[in-house]
Amino acid sequence: MTMELTDIRLIEEIKRLKKEKNAIVLAHNYQIPEIQDIADIVGDSLKLSQEAVNVDADIIVMSGVHFMAESVKILSPEKKVLLPVYDAGCPMADMVDVDGLREFKKKHPNAPVVCYVNSSAEVKAESDICCTSSNAVNIVKSLDSDKVLFVPDKNLGNYIQTQVPEKEIIVWEGFCITHHRVNPQEIDAVRQQHPDAPVLAHPECRPEVVAKADFVGSTSEIIKKAGKMENKSFVIGTEMGVLHQLRTNNPGKKFYLLSPALICFNMKKTTLKDIYNALLKEEKEIFVKEEIQRGALKSLQRMLQVK
Ligand code: 13P
Ligand code: SF4
Repeated sequence: MTMELTDIRLIEEIKRLKKEKNAIVLAHNYQIPEIQDIADIVGDSLKLSQEAVNVDADIIVMSGVHFMAESVKILSPEKKVLLPVYDAGCPMADMVDVDGLREFKKKHPNAPVVCYVNSSAEVKAESDICCTSSNAVNIVKSLDSDKVLFVPDKNLGNYIQTQVPEKEIIVWEGFCITHHRVNPQEIDAVRQQHPDAPVLAHPECRPEVVAKADFVGSTSEIIKKAGKMENKSFVIGTEMGVLHQLRTNNPGKKFYLLSPALICFNMKKTTLKDIYNALLKEEKEIFVKEEIQRGALKSLQRMLQVK
């Protein structure tokens, strides 16, 4: 990675501002390499939620997409939470709203609602418990009910169904526009090209893709698994941002992206300049209405309590 002089200057300024303002930068594994390198903590959605509770800072800059910054604010309402690019959103999170969810609940009364963290604060407040891709199976198993409603990701919901066959999972028809683009023929093609490389895929991929993968897990689980496996090459079935850590941590291994379509444009909107501006001006602050915050907090806290 070559760095422009302006980037070096920006990094120095970001470091200075973080210290001066007792601020930290959290970044998701899909952020651009330069941001992952300056972040205090880089992780998957579960790790970022856990850190939001634990960190001792006055300002948290959440480099990721809107629902992530909102979750940080819900979990740490006393802190100033900044999202450097306000319109970095998650199209899947926008596929379910409170009115739709209420109708869904009416159709299936008495079934608890498990809500993927890729959702708005309002939807979280209307749900019983949240989950991320790394704890979804355990969360559903922990519920004392044979039937569960799952929003908004039908692909993750279908994956959970394969892992928890004893329960009926009724899924909302949402999906990640990035992972949903991958098709199973791409796995067949890549296996021909790289026959010794295991395919590690995210559960947001379609069921036909997940069924052909050798390992299924969250972004951090994929990074961890590739580090532990002895193979020398891997095919990665999640957004290209994870390649940075995979390649940095494993210089002797090769990583191929399952599909060129695995790029999330919302995750790529934030630049070093945006982080600098957020810290300097303390703009782009995230607010959540008090009653929504309280409801959403319950769902997130229930999730964090499940072991
Ligand atoms: P995880 O990092 O929790 O696997 O989430 C993936 C994702 O798509 C976030 O938007
Ligand atoms: Fe949303 Fe998918 Fe992008 Fe994650 S990768 S932010 S789920 S669109």
